[in-house]
Amino acid sequence: MNYKLWLAEQTAAKLEGVSAEALAEWVEYPPNPEMGDLSLPCFKLSKQLRKAPQAIAEELKGAWADEPTVERVEAVAGYLNIYLNKSAYARSVVQAVLTAGDRYGSQNLGGGRKVPMDFSSPNIAKTFHIGHLRSTVIGNALYRIFNFLGYESVAVNHLGDWGTQFGKLIVAYKLWGDQEAVERDGIDELQRIYVKFHDEADQKPELEDEARAWFVKLEQGDEEAHKLWRWFVEISLKEFHKMYDLLGVKFDSYAGESFYNDKMGAVLDELKDKQLLVEDDGALLVRLDEFNMPPALMVKKDGGTLYHTRDTAAAIYRKKEYDFDRSLYITDAGQSLHFQQLFKVVELMGYDWAKQMNHVPFGKVSLEGAKLSTRKGNVVHLEELLTKAIEKTREIIEEKNPSLANKDEVARQVGVGAIVFNDLSNNRIKDIVFSWEDALNFEGETGPYVQYTNARANSVLRKSGEQVDVASVKLELLTATAETALIRELYVFKERIVQAMEKLEPSIISRYLVDLAQSFNRFYHECPILKADGELKAARLALTYATTITLKNGLSLIGLEAPQEM
Ligand code: ARG
Repeated sequence: MNYKLWLAEQTAAKLEGVSAEALAEWVEYPPNPEMGDLSLPCFKLSKQLRKAPQAIAEELKGAWADEPTVERVEAVAGYLNIYLNKSAYARSVVQAVLTAGDRYGSQNLGGGRKVPMDFSSPNIAKTFHIGHLRSTVIGNALYRIFNFLGYESVAVNHLGDWGTQFGKLIVAYKLWGDQEAVERDGIDELQRIYVKFHDEADQKPELEDEARAWFVKLEQGDEEAHKLWRWFVEISLKEFHKMYDLLGVKFDSYAGESFYNDKMGAVLDELKDKQLLVEDDGALLVRLDEFNMPPALMVKKDGGTLYHTRDTAAAIYRKKEYDFDRSLYITDAGQSLHFQQLFKVVELMGYDWAKQMNHVPFGKVSLEGAKLSTRKGNVVHLEELLTKAIEKTREIIEEKNPSLANKDEVARQVGVGAIVFNDLSNNRIKDIVFSWEDALNFEGETGPYVQYTNARANSVLRKSGEQVDVASVKLELLTATAETALIRELYVFKERIVQAMEKLEPSIISRYLVDLAQSFNRFYHECPILKADGELKAARLALTYATTITLKNGLSLIGLEAPQEM
């Protein structure tokens, strides 16, 4: 039952010339339950009906006499406030949750249309740091949210596996590299020699020329260069996969920048044919002055291609391959200009699907004020962060629940959950100052709090030893204030998921989960469950069960697991 739509339809039927769709947009959930369950701000109708808001509210109030779903109606300060019949509301909402189970909240808005999402996309031979974590967890959440709403998400990892930095790395390896050390220390060692390259190149600029030469060799398919590059990629992927396994993230495609090597020629020809490519001091670029943007550089003076060239090829490839409904790119806001330029170039090429591409920017992560920079080695390793979080969780379990059966698994679920949730708890565009303390804080509005609430609800269900029987349970008994508040929270889940999709904002789900957990905890304290009598106990257990279903579905949408016990 969609209550907003229902109220809109009922109201539209009572007024002439007002559409239910428009009304549905205006219906609100009053912030305070004293003001009703649903509310219609009548000032929005004032102009069209040529009446004062309060007069409209009074008039509508009169038309609501015998509606069994409604307990009472009030006209206050231009608002029409509807108080739903608590029993009917409880029955309709809890039954819907129990019936839908792990599909509760899902709906088919997408009709199977494809949405490739470019996320995580770390750079080979560079540390997977907390900046990449943001792209990974935001992308993974959007992936799950879109799937839940009937789209077919495609997770694309556009690996940074091509570019001049590989020339530098080859030179660095040939000068200071040691195979054994790389095999043993992986990216850390590659990172070390890469940083050393930059330090030394400050004194010896000829190193830069050598690096350029090696990259040209690589682009031309030189065997030695290619073998080293392949090896750097393998070493790096091994480490990235460790992170992805811990985070429970999977990709459908690992077509990175190098994948477009043989596809850029055709794109450059097309740009030429369409007279978009101009020469500038030996380089080739697309001018964007008209749109107040610097040009998109496509070919360098030395013939090398660039990030832009590969992204243009990738955009066209994705349209062909997936015939997408939308194509998303999840990166930090620092790349906003790059994506504006990219979308403009595609538009200038005459592709009207350019408007179906969206950049999903997020705020920067800084480390106690200092910007994270791979070049300077100023980074927080994700692996270290996750390991610390898991260890800390393990200690807490040892202290609070030493007899728990699968401690290691739960420690991983909760420790990783804490980090992911912390990352998703603010609007994505907000800059984050990383602090170990915040990341490892399990109190308050955190992932572990939500997971713990779910485990607590599960423990009540276990202790009861009863099965919830949807057909016979008397859900209409759930009319206490804390019960109604919890039911209302369960009800808005579906809407929150749609909002999260529309705004491309997973934090809507994480904040929702905190609200839901708080509502459950209030219910748990105010309404005895196991000590209640027969039918009321069964109804409260059903509400508890509906809460675990919703918490679990919500956690899963943002990539968190929901342990039964912790
Ligand atoms: N590798 C890039 C980075 O780490 C992100 C790539 C984003 N995707 C893209 N199609 N440009 O900054």
